[in-house]
Amino acid sequence: MTDAIGYERIGDIAILKAQNPPVNALGYDVRIGLMQAMDRAEADGAKAVLIYGDGATYFAGADIREFGQTPREPILPDVCDRIEASPLLVVSAMHGTALGGGLEVALSTHYRIAVPSAKVGLPEVLLGILPGAGGTQRLPRVAGVEAALDLITTGRHVKADEALKLGIVDKIEDGEPREIGLAYTQELLDRNAPRRPVSEMSTPAPVDFDAVHDAVLKKGRGQLSPATAVRAVQAATELPFKQGLARERELFMELMNTDQREGLIHAFFSERAVGKLPELKGVDPRPLNAIGVIGGGTMGAGIATAALLAGLTVTMLEMSPEAAEAAKGRIAGNLQGALKRGKISAEQFETLTEQALTLATDYAALKDADLVIEAVFEEMDVKKKVFTQLDEICKPGAVLATNTSYLDVNEIAAITKRPADVIGLHFFSPAHVMKLLEVVVADQTAPDVVATGFALGKRLGKISVRAGVCDGFIGNRILSTYRTCADHMILDGASPYQIDAALEAFGFAMGPFAVADLAGLDIGWAVRKRKRAEGLHPQARDSTYADKLCEDGHFGQKTGKGYYDYAAGPKARVPNPDVMPLIEAERAAQGIAPRDFTDEEILRRYMASMVNEAAKVVGEGIARRPLDVDMTLLFGYGFPRYRGGPLKWADLQGLPDLLKDIKSYAQEDPYFWEPAPLLEKLVAEGRTFDDLNKEAAA
Ligand code: 3HC
Ligand code: NAI
Repeated sequence: MTDAIGYERIGDIAILKAQNPPVNALGYDVRIGLMQAMDRAEADGAKAVLIYGDGATYFAGADIREFGQTPREPILPDVCDRIEASPLLVVSAMHGTALGGGLEVALSTHYRIAVPSAKVGLPEVLLGILPGAGGTQRLPRVAGVEAALDLITTGRHVKADEALKLGIVDKIEDGEPREIGLAYTQELLDRNAPRRPVSEMSTPAPVDFDAVHDAVLKKGRGQLSPATAVRAVQAATELPFKQGLARERELFMELMNTDQREGLIHAFFSERAVGKLPELKGVDPRPLNAIGVIGGGTMGAGIATAALLAGLTVTMLEMSPEAAEAAKGRIAGNLQGALKRGKISAEQFETLTEQALTLATDYAALKDADLVIEAVFEEMDVKKKVFTQLDEICKPGAVLATNTSYLDVNEIAAITKRPADVIGLHFFSPAHVMKLLEVVVADQTAPDVVATGFALGKRLGKISVRAGVCDGFIGNRILSTYRTCADHMILDGASPYQIDAALEAFGFAMGPFAVADLAGLDIGWAVRKRKRAEGLHPQARDSTYADKLCEDGHFGQKTGKGYYDYAAGPKARVPNPDVMPLIEAERAAQGIAPRDFTDEEILRRYMASMVNEAAKVVGEGIARRPLDVDMTLLFGYGFPRYRGGPLKWADLQGLPDLLKDIKSYAQEDPYFWEPAPLLEKLVAEGRTFDDLNKEAAA
């Protein structure tokens, strides 16, 4: 027997304990162990079998690391069938998270008990697959088609009490899983409860599967797994159990072989790897209880909201009492949202706004803060004044952070006498909602200050990515490049609306021009003005038609007009009729004869520019690993998760072809399309970006 399943006999009951830390994933050893233990229990004269998990959880699913490899027998569906077909009474006792294959094992046992804190779910679609061990056939029989479709297409985790109502769990009992499981199994034996194989339950009633399929496909913006899962559930209503299982397997294998599955698995592991930096091994973060925020505009108020919700006390420093009150109003507005969604109670709202938050206009109020983050205007002189005052007042060891989007963190650090304590913490708007945090490490930032940045990110529930100092760090630097590529395509003949449509078809929630309208066209205008003032490269192409929109007071959604007209509301956008004439005038002024672009070419150029700049960002060490770029784009820029991120996408496309395209574009514009040295190197060596991720993890 393998060690992955412990075996014990108590009276008539054989106890099978999963022991495969950290999450009892159903890898090869566990599957073999379950088969052998079932054989042993049956040979042993036991009357019942109890299955539970050691440590943090019941089985949390199949072992995701095995995906993409040739399946090793016994495969999980066979293990589930074996368990269900046993002549003994089989019971599961669940705690932690019974997810995916874990819940499928539980559904193949005859009865299920859970502790109150247990959660169950079938999150496979989030990994680009569907439940492949009977989940799409057994869950509809147990909980009905509607509930099964909801759970399977969203992948949501269901708490024990809801699982009880849905019939997924038979009983909830507080206690150790082994003890409650034993008592329940004994009770079932005592009352001669029959075996209860789900496969023998009646065929569930159908719904309008075509309608559900189409709605789910639309909601997923091109993600295949949830819609394919609908078809698997449909099979449960149309086919006998065994044939339904075969159909599930067929659809499961289809999805297993898609790029989307690879992209989503890459996202799953990268999300967990992103905060694990070799340089932080053994480095403790500094204490973090009280924080200061300077500037309570859009960003400062959002950062303060996130910190308050995470249990930190916040001192908000503004320029005047009136501005401080306005900042408090913004924070209270954000917290009202949390109150409405049931995330906090009215009492907590009161505590957070009246006790945990302090308003100030005098820097002395920041003398005890463990970390201060400034979110004042994006001007170097203003930032330098703030940091000079912080340097005077803050206690030794306090972390001094800037939320700057583009400014040089080294220059800001150099104004203080403690550059080792200075770091960039670049949040995204709205800061209490967006998951991304760029931890910008300057030349002299101390390792424990970096660790504190990551600790803050974790506390606030963010995905934190380490970035080096450059114009725009990881995300905004790459954004600025692919936006420029889009601007070039507009000059050459594409329209903003065609570009947005092509990118939305690729899976972005919004195309770049709709995003610009949302963020405010004044932001890009300010950046263009700054870059022009600094002096553009003589070969750089420029255009001013968007400036004209701004000059006329059109800043996008907040003024009602930008690339689009929002007269009918933010979601009912229609092209602004003023835009194309401005573009046509610009083309004429620059002597450009517009040409047609296909959607494929738009996508190819846009993505090639993104990948090329991302490769430069990695090659220069601004991002340590390709996966850091991927997570930045996923969590901060709406990149479709099912494509894994731009560099995973590039790997899946094939780097040689991409480089070939970049070189062909470079013939028209060698300055913009200069190939990234790292991309050329990888192609020359026949390697991928993911090879670099693997090397970094080794
Ligand atoms: N397979 C392999 N490794 C897994 C895993 C899995 N199913 N689930 C988690 N892990 C690993 C993580 O990568 C992490 O490893 P690391 O420490 O080396 O980074 C470690 O276990 C701990 O995971 P978390 O950091 O995520 O721990 P949390 O306590 O925050 O969360 C969890 C635990 C809720 C179980 C979460 O890990 C999770 O959601 N896991 C995925 C669950 C899942 O999707 N299951 C379905 C799998 S697909 C399937 O079952 C197919 C079947 O239908 C045939
Ligand atoms: P904002 O204009 O909404 O807010 C700035 C606030 O700072 C104002 O309330 C102002 O009263 C206050 N302020 C200015 N000087 C001050 C001083 N010396 N002392 C105290 N308070 C002062 O600006 P926003 O959008 O919140 O941006 C702030 C910073 O965050 C900028 O550096 C910006 O680049 C950065 N940022 C902005 C993002 C965005 O999407 N808006 C995203 C990420 C970073």
